[in-house]
Formats: sequence, C-alpha cells, structure tokens
Amino acid sequence: GYRMIEAPVDVFNASEIKSRLEASSLIQKVLYTEETDSTNTWAKRLAEEGSPSGTLAVAERQTQGKGRRGKVWSSPEGTSVYMTLLLRPEILPQYAAPLTLVMGLSVAQALSETLRLPAGIKWPNDVVVSGKKICGILTEMNAQIDYVEYLVIGTGINVNTQEFPDEIRDVATSAAVQLGHIVSRAELAAAVIRCFEKNYKIYLESCSLKGLMEDYREKMINVNREVKVMGPGEVFEGVAKGINPAGELLVERPNGSVTAVSGGEVSVRGIYGYV
Ligand code: BTN
Repeated sequence: GYRMIEAPVDVFNASEIKSRLEASSLIQKVLYTEETDSTNTWAKRLAEEGSPSGTLAVAERQTQGKGRRGKVWSSPEGTSVYMTLLLRPEILPQYAAPLTLVMGLSVAQALSETLRLPAGIKWPNDVVVSGKKICGILTEMNAQIDYVEYLVIGTGINVNTQEFPDEIRDVATSAAVQLGHIVSRAELAAAVIRCFEKNYKIYLESCSLKGLMEDYREKMINVNREVKVMGPGEVFEGVAKGINPAGELLVERPNGSVTAVSGGEVSVRGIYGYV
C-alpha cells in the first residue's frame, strides 16, 4: 500500500506570511512573535517608536487579547490569526471609522474567495459563517482633532479552532469547523491583506465607502432584519436597511423614518439570536 507523507498545511511564521505579500505595495514590514499582550497594543507601541504605515504585527498567541467594548478576545495558540495593521492615512479623523468596515469586507471576501466559505458581515464588522462569528475586528486610533497620527486595525480570525470557551461556544465558529479540514493561516492572513489593499485604495479615493457599498451590501447579513438599537440616548427597534458611505447603519423605524446609527455609539442586536 501507500504511505502518505503529509506536508504540514499550517506553518505560521513571518516568512510564510511575507513571502505571500511580496507584491504588496501597502505592506512595508511583517513582524511575527510567538507571544504578545495584544497585537493592537504591540502595533501602537511600534507606531510610537516610528514604525511606518504598512507595518503588520502578527502573533501566535495573545495574553491580553482585546475585543470590542472592553471584552476579552480569547487568544490561544496554534489555531487563529491575530494580526494588526498599522496605517498612517492622510485623512481627517472623522473619515477613519469606515476603515473598520473595509477590513470586515476584506475578511469576508478572503474567506469566500480562497476557502469558498459563504462569509457574511454582521454590521459593522463581525464576519459570520452559518450564523456564527468567525472573525472580530478592533480598530484603534491616535488622532488630534484634525490629524490622524496613526490607526491600528486588529483582526482575529478563528481558523483551525476546534473547541471554544463555554461563553462563546454557541455563537462562534472557525474555518476548520465549517470546512472539515485544517487550512493555512499564512495563506488566509495574506489573502485578507491582499483584499484589504485593493479595498483600501478604493476607500482612499473618497475617504468613504462610496466605491465599496455594493460589495459590502452584498455580504451584509443583517439587511432587512429587525434590529434593536441600544444607544446612549435612545433605545429603539427597527429594520436594518443598509449602510451609508460613512459606514453608518440605516435603520427604518415603524413610522417609516430612517435613522443612521454609528458603530461607536450603539450596539445593534438582532432581535432573534446572534445575527
Ligand atoms: C470583537 O470584539 O469582535 C473584536 C475582536 C478583535 C480581536 C483582534 S485579535 C488581533 C487584535 N489584537 C487584539 O487584542 N484584538 C484584535
């Protein structure tokens, strides 16, 4: 009989990622470490030390992985992508918010194009497969009122994860769980960055999502769904209708009026379950 000698499919390190990004004009540096507190925090330190726009910080595990709204992002080794892209765009700070949606779109496209996974976006930037979250994005910015010093876009993708912590077991999934086989994290991470590079150029033409609206909307899974908007001033229910070029969610109220809500000020929950 035959004996298959299997090549390891998921070797994850700096050169595996770098070699797949040689054609990139966006990525200036790929830094990889076995362990860091949080790739976002690391990227901010690098920014403070003068690291250029286009620095990509990648880690095998995080000891203080951060989620949105002060939550913890569980970050064990061996299965996930934890990466943060440092950018120094010449834009006004008020035009930075859509960039987090640009990354969400890029992850959804990379999952669809490279792995044939039907990935959708739960506004603003959770990437979802089969109704479960596969990726989260956390964007942080250091800006003056009229000047962006830098921003860091942190992406966490569940790639080869088989077991999730109890708290998220029902709402989380991974590429390997969906596909039934292990996939290359380096390949996926590079594909995400390549998609981002293409989308980022389009975003920069208008500092808005104008040129990406159709692509985003096509992937958005909460269009025409009932949502509950929980803002600081107001709580209301309505139907999600799409987004505007600023990346705000357009919510139609029962009386027909449409309110644009932004990710920073509200949390939007589907009335039925996670999506
Ligand atoms: C969310 O709550 O959905 C956002 C999760 C963001 C997680 C990623 S993992 C890489 C980067 N480093 C962090 O500490 N957080 C982001």
